[in-house]
Order: sequence, then structure tokens, then C-alpha cells
Amino acid sequence: MRENSSSDTPHEGMTWYKALSPDELPEGRVTAISCGDTTVAVTHYDGEYAALDNNCPHQGGPLGEGSIETGCLRCPWHGWDFDPLTGETPGPHDDSVESFPVEEREDGIYVGFPEEKPHERTVSNVIAETLTNWGVRQVWGIVGHSNLGLADALRREAESGDLTYYGVRHEGAAAFAASAYGKLTGRPAACFSIAGPGATNMLTGLWDANVDRSPTIALTG
Ligand code: FES
Repeated sequence: MRENSSSDTPHEGMTWYKALSPDELPEGRVTAISCGDTTVAVTHYDGEYAALDNNCPHQGGPLGEGSIETGCLRCPWHGWDFDPLTGETPGPHDDSVESFPVEEREDGIYVGFPEEKPHERTVSNVIAETLTNWGVRQVWGIVGHSNLGLADALRREAESGDLTYYGVRHEGAAAFAASAYGKLTGRPAACFSIAGPGATNMLTGLWDANVDRSPTIALTG
């Protein structure tokens, strides 16, 4: 994660992160840089720097791992092209990439982000708070598109020290881990998946919890 700067800037209400040292990124190259909670694809093209959303609008490919070819930033996954300085598309698709303000300062290249608005409590927050109030302290799972809201709510509970979240590689492992925890401690634990196939992957572990009367909670997108 790159350092934060609140030094004087013409952009009000922005938080600035130092992304690169001077001359760190050669002309014609792109790289992925984490600034705070956001990863951006920083490009150096035609003597200028730019910072674009690292997620390709097609299927989320990492643009910072792409390449600049014949004047276009090319996504490494399926080859969609974007303007390396503006993020605009030359077509045939309609999707452009969000860009962030960039400043070249004496000590390096800075990227600006709008200051985060205060968090508004959601239904997912209520679910996560209720779980911790019930004494759930352990959650095993996989984060995906359909459960992002609840994943963020679990993250907030984890950050406040009320639970521990373990990322796993298969939802079946999450269900078995929660079931085993319940059997060994007598306390409830949860497994967590996306909707659809992620949820059905938990079934074998949940059946294990069912037959052994383990207090296991399944959360899905
Ligand atoms: S994810 Fe970028 S082109 Fe498909």
C-alpha cells in the first residue's frame, strides 16, 4: 500500500496517495498499484501518467497486468483495448474505464481519490451484528459477486475484533470447518458462500453438521 498524503492540492476533498517514485515506471508501460483500499492501473504513455480502475469492465481482468500496444492499453484476459491515458474505449464495446486524477510532484506520481463518505448501516450490517451478538466468532468462506455486501459487513465485524474470517478455496471446506468447530467447542460458527453453486457446494458439510447436531450457520449470497 502506498503512502497517504494530505498535502496542499488544488483538488478539494481528495485523498492523495504516492503511487510511484520519479522514473519508476518506464515510458510505454503499465503497472498495478494499491493506493489505500483501491488498486489502480498506472500508465506512462506519451510522456504522461494516468491512473485507471484496475478492473476491466468486461470480466474484471487486471488491467495493471496488461500491456500498452499500438497506443492502446490491452487487457491481459481477453484483449479489450482502452486509451491508456483516459480509459476511453476505441470500441467495438461501449465500456470505458474509470480514471482518477494524477499529479506529478517533485518526489513522485500521486493519485487522488474522493474522500470516503461515512458508511450507512445496511441490512447486511444488521445480519453480521446479530451473528456476533449470538456468539458467532468464526466464519469460513469465499467472497464473490453475489455476497459482497455481507462480506463487507463481516469485514467490519472482523475489524472491530468481534469475529475472525477465514478465506478458503472451496465452500465444502468452509462448511466442514464450521461443523467441526461446533462439534469441538459446542459454540456456533458460520460458513459463507456466493449464491448458486457456491451454496450447493456447502451441502455435504452442512449434512455432516446436521447428523452430528453441530450448531452451524450457512450464509449465502
Ligand atoms: S476481462 Fe478484460 S477483456 Fe475480458
